[in-house]
Amino acid sequence: MGHTDSIFALLKTGESNNPMIVTTKDLFQHAYGKYAVGAYNINNLEQTVGLFRGNLGKKGANEDPVDGKISAPFIIQISRGARAYSDKRMLEALIRSADQVFPEAVFAVHLDHGTEEACYDCIDSGFYSSVMIDASHHEFAENVATTKRVVDKAHAKGIVVEAELGQLGGVEEDVVGSVKLTDPAQAAEFIEKTGVDSLAVAIGTSHGAFKFSGKQGLHFDVLEKIQKAIPKNFPLVMHGSSSVPHEWVERINKAGGKLKDASGVDEKQYLPAAKLGVTKINIDTDGRLVWCAIHREHFRDKPEDFDLRPAGKTFMQAYAEYIIHKNEMLGSTGQLEGVRSALSGGKKSACGCCCGK
Ligand code: G3H
Ligand code: 13P
Ligand code: ZN
Repeated sequence: MGHTDSIFALLKTGESNNPMIVTTKDLFQHAYGKYAVGAYNINNLEQTVGLFRGNLGKKGANEDPVDGKISAPFIIQISRGARAYSDKRMLEALIRSADQVFPEAVFAVHLDHGTEEACYDCIDSGFYSSVMIDASHHEFAENVATTKRVVDKAHAKGIVVEAELGQLGGVEEDVVGSVKLTDPAQAAEFIEKTGVDSLAVAIGTSHGAFKFSGKQGLHFDVLEKIQKAIPKNFPLVMHGSSSVPHEWVERINKAGGKLKDASGVDEKQYLPAAKLGVTKINIDTDGRLVWCAIHREHFRDKPEDFDLRPAGKTFMQAYAEYIIHKNEMLGSTGQLEGVRSALSGGKKSACGCCCGK
């Protein structure tokens, strides 16, 4: 068994080992073919709190009991933009604190769309359990070589790696992409040559709030071919998966926003994609829409207000509820105890559940 195969592959958080920050690979083993794990981007405190609450089925407050029927494993993603927004150490500190406030959570910490330099920084930090090297804008050979260098460094530390092949449309950090769907044969060759742990594929999605004009959707035919061409049970990743709900866009526009022709991925397509090997589904834009609607509405309805906390409180609750809904669509809802049980080798604990305590 290689170091990245260990089920408790983990991760030093400062001086202590925290067994509940796991690698994405650990989560994928439980999910593959059945459901997709939600990979949610964070930028600030309120998003972090809403995210943890939602994944534990806590609708109102941190102190609410965990709802095992809907609690879910999840992935926290941090983009380079997010790391630069306040300070990367602030986000790490938030996650370390959340881990204490919400000790029941099981999650991975992942660098989203990393450059080679950012990957090495995260690998060296000892905090991330997973990094994404995104060299998809380079030629195939260079993408392979860059990914392989990152894989070698990451695996030496028990950290797993996601890479990308093909190009999504839309804006990706500082790369403005033109669509290039992933070639199934190249995907197989890429996985073999790089030793990467999961692969982001371009199958018709794009980043942001303006994904489709007309009636396009996911290219399930391409996804099916990719799954057939690559090793059995190899996890695929779908970027640009926000559904850009009409309801939230409308709320934003009614409260003074100007989002015209926004559209996203049909949430009903998440589970069929999961059945074809998509094990990680990336959601960032939807969280921003919820944030925007709540804040616009709050200050529209209370123009005399200038306090940040009331709107922040409403947002944390709305975001938790949104995560609960999203996990239902991904099929990860109610999977937390199963994952915990798998991670602890199926052992039940003294308290009768499988929390490991
Ligand atoms: O793929 C891009 C993610 O949505 C991250 O966006 O770079 O604005 O944080 P960001
Ligand atoms: P969305 O813009 O659809 O939320 O995609 C996010 C993403 O892919 C992050 O890597
Ligand atoms: Zn992405």
